[in-house]
Amino acid sequence: SMEPKLQLLRENVRTFPDFPKPGIQFRDICPILKSPPALTAAIDLFEERVRTMHPQVDLIVGLDARGFLFGPLLAQRLGIGFVPVRKKGKLPGTTVSTAYDLEYGRAELEIQEDAVAPAQKIIVIDDLLATGGTLCAACELLLRLQAQVLECLVLVELKDLRGAERLKPHAVFSLLQY
Ligand code: PRP
Ligand code: ADE
Repeated sequence: SMEPKLQLLRENVRTFPDFPKPGIQFRDICPILKSPPALTAAIDLFEERVRTMHPQVDLIVGLDARGFLFGPLLAQRLGIGFVPVRKKGKLPGTTVSTAYDLEYGRAELEIQEDAVAPAQKIIVIDDLLATGGTLCAACELLLRLQAQVLECLVLVELKDLRGAERLKPHAVFSLLQY
């Protein structure tokens, strides 16, 4: 059963009211990083999901910044590569970029054009799904590179914001829901 591992994760998410702005309930995943058993549980659950549902995966793509905390660990477990999607202006060489809105602002994401080949099968990972703006933007970049997004993975999904609906037709798998 997934339950003991999910329980360990639940115990290691902290909620901060009114951060970074009034009205936002910030779900802080830092305690998961600080707890070796919790971090292992998170990567175990993601690994199991990918091995059972998406064994054909070629690459893990992780989102700046908190997707970088989990993506390389998962990629290493699966024995495949990791590619970062970064906030604009950080990546050298030829890039593709797109602007997007998020729960508390606006930003621009970028990927190296030669990081993903056409038809490669991708799992995208981030810490949290809120409005879905960030993951949507990343999927759009991957579409422009003619890659195939198999699924998006997040530790935390904020259900009220309906990010999963915005992400359609792409699927989302979340470990914890609020
Ligand atoms: C947070 C979070 C997700 C995104 C989710 O990142 O880590 O990437 O917001 O929000 P959305 O579903 O409404 O797009 P943030 O933009 O705060 O940047 P950070 O990772 O650099 O802290
Ligand atoms: N990113 C966007 N919304 C967030 C929230 N409520 N908590 C943590 N990270 C977030």
